[in-house]
Amino acid sequence: MIEIGLAYGASALAVAEAIVSQGIEGADHVIIDAFQEEFHDAGWDAIVAAGLTEVCRLLRERSQLVLPRLLGGGFVADAAFVDGSHIFHNVFVDLFFLRELVRPGGLVVLDDCQWPSVATAVRYFELNTGWAVERFDRETRLRAYRLPSVRVEPSFESFRWFGVDRGS
Ligand SMILES: C[S@@+](CC[C@H](N)C(=O)[O-])C[C@H]1O[C@@H](n2cnc3c(N)ncnc32)[C@H](O)[C@@H]1O
Repeated sequence: MIEIGLAYGASALAVAEAIVSQGIEGADHVIIDAFQEEFHDAGWDAIVAAGLTEVCRLLRERSQLVLPRLLGGGFVADAAFVDGSHIFHNVFVDLFFLRELVRPGGLVVLDDCQWPSVATAVRYFELNTGWAVERFDRETRLRAYRLPSVRVEPSFESFRWFGVDRGS
């Protein structure tokens, strides 16, 4: 599992609880947060206090630099939760690498898709790389995408524009 954006640890605790309750052998929840000290380490302290350090590790760097390193090291994730930088180019780069880090058929979940920057970045992958929307049964700012069961590079000739709202 790869999670980007720890902050106060709310999502990380929920994800780690789900991993532990599944009893997954050798689970590795990689949490990336470049600015955890700005939260006075509250998120990481919560993970430690919950006794989750066997399952979780924290990489204190920008995800845009960590993800390519994980990829180069052969890391493969079943799923990713994206809630780090909300700047368009950073989200896009995160998703570019997650497309290769998350196994075919795996899941990518994003928070804060009400923001055009986040929604536009993921829209590219939806329209151009076959990421399929997984529906939630209630209104939410989260979006979940199932990756194709086979990773295929799209042809540049079939490129589809992906802006969600051009604004003014
Ligand atoms: C919205 S908060 C995450 C909230 C958390 N997921 C939760 O549910 O409590 C965003 C987090 O992303 C981190 N962040 C921002 N830019 C980042 C980057 N480029 N790389 C890694 N982490 C980043 C911030 O330090 C912050 O902790």
